[in-house]
Amino acid sequence: MTQRVFSGMQPTSDSLHLGNFLGALTQWVALQDTHHAIYSVVDLHALTVSPDRDVLVRRTRATAAQYLAAGVDPDRSILFVQSHVPQHTELTWILSTFTGMGEASRMTQFKDKSTKVGESGTNVGLFTYPILQAADILLYDTNVVPVGEDQRQHLELSRDLAQRLNSRLGEGTAVVPEVHIVKEVAKIFDLQDPTAKMSKSSSSPNGVIDILDDPKAITKRIKSAVTDTDTVIRFDREHKPGVSNLLTIYSALTGRPVDDIVADYEGKMYGHLKVDLADVVVAALTPVREAALEWIESPERLDSVLAQGAEKASAIAQATLERIYERVGLLPLKHR
Ligand code: TYM
Repeated sequence: MTQRVFSGMQPTSDSLHLGNFLGALTQWVALQDTHHAIYSVVDLHALTVSPDRDVLVRRTRATAAQYLAAGVDPDRSILFVQSHVPQHTELTWILSTFTGMGEASRMTQFKDKSTKVGESGTNVGLFTYPILQAADILLYDTNVVPVGEDQRQHLELSRDLAQRLNSRLGEGTAVVPEVHIVKEVAKIFDLQDPTAKMSKSSSSPNGVIDILDDPKAITKRIKSAVTDTDTVIRFDREHKPGVSNLLTIYSALTGRPVDDIVADYEGKMYGHLKVDLADVVVAALTPVREAALEWIESPERLDSVLAQGAEKASAIAQATLERIYERVGLLPLKHR
């Protein structure tokens, strides 16, 4: 049987960034050729950062638009908005009763995020967030989950929960998902602080390249990327994190091995690399940006794609939920 892929992104910014694009979206698009893929805009997860209502609406559509623009194909894959499929929250409750306080408390993303906002700013949703993520994955009997490195620990929890369901409720209750992380692009770094991952919540917007940035902004950000005082262009993650990050991006977008790129720039200066890389990034992102803007300007067309996706996703999700409800011992509703 064709293996199933599931993944999602939070609609927590107007534009996805180059880390989301290379670490996840590009892999999603490729996996459609070999797998049955299901991709979601996980708006319920985004509620944990208490977004303004109109902002959330806009970002949910913009995120779906960028999936489509990057090549997620609704004729081959399922594309939907998480809150349109209520089974996600229903399974979350069941899974939360299988999750230990200790293991939930160990999640480093929760620790980082809650430390940032302090106890008074931390909602319970942020704590149970990885359980909702596990529900997303297990609902579709997912075999493969393409993500960036920062999701590894959450995926471990999803796997542990699937295994626990199988041992407590019987084999075949859940599929244990495999994480799909492409090492080279698993962590794209911030251009201004190349030891930190590129992130929507970066302290400096200049460190982030957004898919929806215009070419001028992209070029400016790459040209001002932090490198080092040395002059040699070579890949050395530890000692030359800035240059190594630029080489990684260059290689990922052109499909050329890093060594070949390094050979091309022998004896040249950082400025040369940056000018060429800016062209490479602009060439790769411009068609995506233009297609995304078209989708954003046609919300009705977009909503109709999402509605069809929700219908297909619900059918799969409902079957899984009924199987798990039955095994847990929840009394089925008999229609008179
Ligand atoms: P999110 O929305 O933070 O990020 C979306 C995807 O982009 C990847 N990513 C990166 N990859 C490489 N370099 C970076 N700098 C970088 N920054 C982000 C992330 O690893 C992710 O794959 N919890 C998830 C969303 C989620 C999910 C799911 C994912 C909810 N349910 C089920 C998979 C399956 C998140 O916050 O991703």
